[in-house]
Amino acid sequence: MKRSGMAVVVALALGVAAGAALAQAQAKPEQLVKQRQSVMTLQGKYFGPMAAMAQGKAPYNADIVRRNAAFLDNLTRMPWDTFEPSTKDVKPSGALPAIWEQSAKFKEAASRLENEANKLYEVSRSGDEAAVKAQIGAVGKACGGCHESFRQKQ
Ligand code: HEC
Repeated sequence: MKRSGMAVVVALALGVAAGAALAQAQAKPEQLVKQRQSVMTLQGKYFGPMAAMAQGKAPYNADIVRRNAAFLDNLTRMPWDTFEPSTKDVKPSGALPAIWEQSAKFKEAASRLENEANKLYEVSRSGDEAAVKAQIGAVGKACGGCHESFRQKQ
């Protein structure tokens, strides 16, 4: 009895794993676009207040920077696997065909953001205000640099 009970548990676990793998492989293009737009929207949500502080448009708040930098560090690793060729013709999307025509350059722009956001996370924990503000600027350049080449003009 015990033994077959275990077999059922194992079979169920494998079934769940296979189901998850399948869901990943079959994600609909519309769903992928929605996911990346959601991540980008959240990047904007958490980066915006930090950019305002770096530009002197909002008072500097080290606690908010520490929290937002941690969120951003994670968010910047999320959107890239949704940029599948299957999403090329999904509308509405601000993604330009250059993403797939110059994929090495796109990946480089994505890594650049990940690296700068990770540095911001580090410096937000130990750095002084000037260093943090400078790093916020570097993150902003990484956002803008990619949008310049790979996102439709607003
Ligand atoms: C490697 C390229 C790349 C980087 C780096 C990048 N973005 Fe984007 N972003 C895009 C693309 C491409 C789109 C259009 C996605 C779509 O509509 O399918 C986009 C869209 C957006 C949108 C609009 C989302 C929507 O709902 O339509 C916002 C907001 C945004 N990005 C913010 C940011 C912020 C903030 C950063 C930096 C922290 C950033 N992005 C970094 C490529 C990038």
